[in-house]
Amino acid sequence: MFLKRKKQKQKVTVDERLQHIAFIMDGNGRWAQKRGMPREFGHTHGAATFKKIGRYCESIGLKYMTVYAFSTENWKRPQKEVDAIMKLFDEYIEQCFIEMVDDNVHIRFIGDLTIFPDSLRAKMDRIERETAHKSFLLNIGVNYGGREEITHACNELIKLGKKNITEEDISAHIYTADCPDPDLIVRTGGDLRTSNFLLWQSAYTEYYFTDVLWPDYSGKDVDEAVEAFYSRKRRYGGV
Ligand code: FPP
Repeated sequence: MFLKRKKQKQKVTVDERLQHIAFIMDGNGRWAQKRGMPREFGHTHGAATFKKIGRYCESIGLKYMTVYAFSTENWKRPQKEVDAIMKLFDEYIEQCFIEMVDDNVHIRFIGDLTIFPDSLRAKMDRIERETAHKSFLLNIGVNYGGREEITHACNELIKLGKKNITEEDISAHIYTADCPDPDLIVRTGGDLRTSNFLLWQSAYTEYYFTDVLWPDYSGKDVDEAVEAFYSRKRRYGGV
């Protein structure tokens, strides 16, 4: 899945200041439409780019990567497009089972997974369990929404009988509780918004926006985002 294929030429490396990168993989539809093709064609190419970028991020020393693959709002899309994306998830998981022996990726799905059929959830659970010992953690957001995540965390805390909820309590009950907040969020496709992605986790995250459409996104573009990240001063509200 990741390490098996030919690595892209590596330009940058990262240190402890940049451990977690997250991507809003936007622009698949426009990429396909520019070629006179249906939107699903863009998602197929987007899935290939996702694998390539995952491989690249692992190779430059990142420890965590999170992607926004399907939001709680994406169900509003035409059924044909939703079906095509679901099929890509399923194919991706099937490929992972075949290739996972050789890679270094702990795959985890984040979001409200209760909406998915039992058969797909069982596969998601299995891939998570069987890759849990790998060191590069890849969170894949499916039926993910930042507001839903925070609401879910609060409801979990209510179930535990909490009367006063602290920030630490919420941090401990979000889907990414066991990994550090993203240092950098990259959004491809030219739009300048967060679209309900990692709302809680991104309080002090650096953002990087690019016009490149996701299927065209490459290791060179990751390098540019990483270089931009290192040129910034993170003050976390201090001076
Ligand atoms: C946003 O582009 C992309 C999505 C809503 C789907 C993302 C899915 C993939 C990259 C493929 C499957 C992923 C995995 C994990 C196998 P858009 O459709 O909103 O593009 P547009 O802004 O040009 O319309």
